[in-house]
Amino acid sequence: MSRKLFVTTALPYANAPFHVGHMMEYIQADIWVRFQRMMGHEVHFVCADDAHGAPIMIAAEKAGLSPQAFVATIAAGRQQYLDGFHIGFDNWHSTDGPENHRLAQEIYLGLRKAGLIAVRPVEQFFDPVKGMFLPDRYIKGECPKCGAKDQYGDSCEVCGAVYTPTELKNPYSTLTGATPVLKSSEHHFFQLSAQRCLDFLQQWTHEPGRLQPEVLNKIREWFATDEHGHVGLSDWDISRDAPYFGIRIPDTEDKYFYVWLDAPVGYLASLANYCGKRGLDFDKLLADPALEQVHFIGKDITYFHTLFWPAMLHFSGRKTPDKVFVHGFITVNGGEKMSKSRGTGISPLKYLELGLNAEWLRYYIAAKLNAKVEDIDFNPEDFVARVNADLVGKYVNIASRAAGFLAKRFDGRLSADIGVEGRTLLDGLRAHRGEIEQLYETREYGKALREIMLLADRVNEYVDQHKPWELAKKPENAAVLHDVCSVCIEAFRVLTIYLKPVLPALAAQVEAFLRVSPLAFADASRALGAHTIGAYQHLMQRVDPALLEKLFEPPVPAVAEAPKPGGEDMAPTISIDDFAKVDLRIAKIVACEHVEGSDKLLRLTLDVGEGRTRNVFSGIKSAYQPEQLVGKLTVMVANLAPRKMKFGLSEGMVLAASHADGKAHPGLYILEPWPGAVPGLRVR
Ligand code: MSP
Ligand code: ZN
Repeated sequence: MSRKLFVTTALPYANAPFHVGHMMEYIQADIWVRFQRMMGHEVHFVCADDAHGAPIMIAAEKAGLSPQAFVATIAAGRQQYLDGFHIGFDNWHSTDGPENHRLAQEIYLGLRKAGLIAVRPVEQFFDPVKGMFLPDRYIKGECPKCGAKDQYGDSCEVCGAVYTPTELKNPYSTLTGATPVLKSSEHHFFQLSAQRCLDFLQQWTHEPGRLQPEVLNKIREWFATDEHGHVGLSDWDISRDAPYFGIRIPDTEDKYFYVWLDAPVGYLASLANYCGKRGLDFDKLLADPALEQVHFIGKDITYFHTLFWPAMLHFSGRKTPDKVFVHGFITVNGGEKMSKSRGTGISPLKYLELGLNAEWLRYYIAAKLNAKVEDIDFNPEDFVARVNADLVGKYVNIASRAAGFLAKRFDGRLSADIGVEGRTLLDGLRAHRGEIEQLYETREYGKALREIMLLADRVNEYVDQHKPWELAKKPENAAVLHDVCSVCIEAFRVLTIYLKPVLPALAAQVEAFLRVSPLAFADASRALGAHTIGAYQHLMQRVDPALLEKLFEPPVPAVAEAPKPGGEDMAPTISIDDFAKVDLRIAKIVACEHVEGSDKLLRLTLDVGEGRTRNVFSGIKSAYQPEQLVGKLTVMVANLAPRKMKFGLSEGMVLAASHADGKAHPGLYILEPWPGAVPGLRVR
């Protein structure tokens, strides 16, 4: 029976190019999709950029772009990766598209109608300079336990204490340096704590075959305590106050959906956008009970996909996902878990630019994958061994060993009657079709490839027994040679079918060489018979380990072997407009004194020609005595947001030069203008 599938991969944040973790997810899903298509099923395979949220808004601002323009620059870079690794999405869209605005609002209204939206005040840190509520990651301060400086709002990297941002001492906004103030605002909640939500999710998650066993175990823990350690499922805060890059909440002026509310809706939005392009009826397709909705995701986003997302869909009156396939993370060289933002080790684009074959990586990743939520490691020696010994050594070589004789001696025509031994070999290969299909279906790609390589071993044994190169020496063996080579080519065709989900480009080359139409799984059970094949062309090279070494070389710095001036790289280029935001002024140090209780700071009283003086704390005590400074002119940042410190308000910053490694290179030098400068002059 033919199936109808709607398949997605997680929508990547639109703030960085793809890293190898993304490619691994796409390769896993793409293999599954190609397999389904080869089984004759209908598949709609879509993805999109996850465009919204505070980090992207802030990154855009830093880049001097609107969030829309910023996201567009990231989106423009996507296709080269997808094409390069043969990832066959039918559509790539954005969560900022009109379809997503409409669908997210519809789903929200559905939840509200179901009585599952609550509105209540939440007290949160607010940056008075920036005029925005601060996500936790933008708040730092001193650890309430050990007093370590510059710790994030959730935990201390020095002593390990865990706390909430409001417990930080001397908190500051990392965006402006301002002291955040607690401010209350109305938030919208999806009431997941409601008994009917719990009941529904209990039933949905336990549906046989829906989730992997280890995922289900995790969820059982979550039903006991939520991801913050609270008992049971908590209501989910789905709103954020303006300014926010996102989708406006209906019937509000200044509230937006939290990015994770509209992100999964982006799956539907991308499908809707694709239906629009293809002239398909989106609502009809989505409502079709036969449509199986399948999400491929990484383990870090399981909570969103197995609790929030099905509940959102169900209680807004929609069909829920049929399956969520969770994979582990890829690490490189046994290395630390890849950072989501930085990626690590190998750059997918560099891989392609070096001329490494994309299908080597597809094969290697597939060989490592199974249906469990296990991490996999990219290991260069292992990569070379599997590609060279298995993929090329066992499979590709079968064709090259037989094709030459067929072309030269038999005009490329295959023998129609190949004898018992050959038939037995081929029947043996064909007999594994069902098992291999089952392994692809269940995402046991590693097992599938091992199985296929065992079959390739059989074919190579057959070749070694019959030695076509020996047969070719005696004209009286022509008929046997013809049979043996025909068997090899037929076996090669069957193996190609089995490998095609993993190696689509290679399979296309083989189809051209064999002069057959696109191969599907059913073709494994048919014989080619007296068919004429084309000329053999070299199909795939072995990996050159030297190339792989290049892949791991750290990127060449922009200036080769450039010394690091002052112990640090130059900061990224900024525009003149960026620089103009910094208001530097000549200041006169009218007074200077030690600060009681601080071994780093001096208190400066500065005259910047404003008719009043400013109080500035400066960490220059190690280099200067107060009396050395009084009466001198220097340069200050005059428009820095005032910052409340333990000792009082600091209203600006004095500039001083220092080495990046202050321990190895102590020394601190404040700036002094040439004679003639007066307080208040701008430095530009
Ligand atoms: N934007 C969210 C997903 C929203 S889905 C409605 C997000 N984006 S992400 O760019 O950080 O991650 C995208 C996918 O890549 C996730 O499935 C994530 O698990 C996966 N991976 C990120 N790093 C990975 C590895 N190192 N290895 C394998 N997959 C990894 O999360
Ligand atoms: Zn601490």
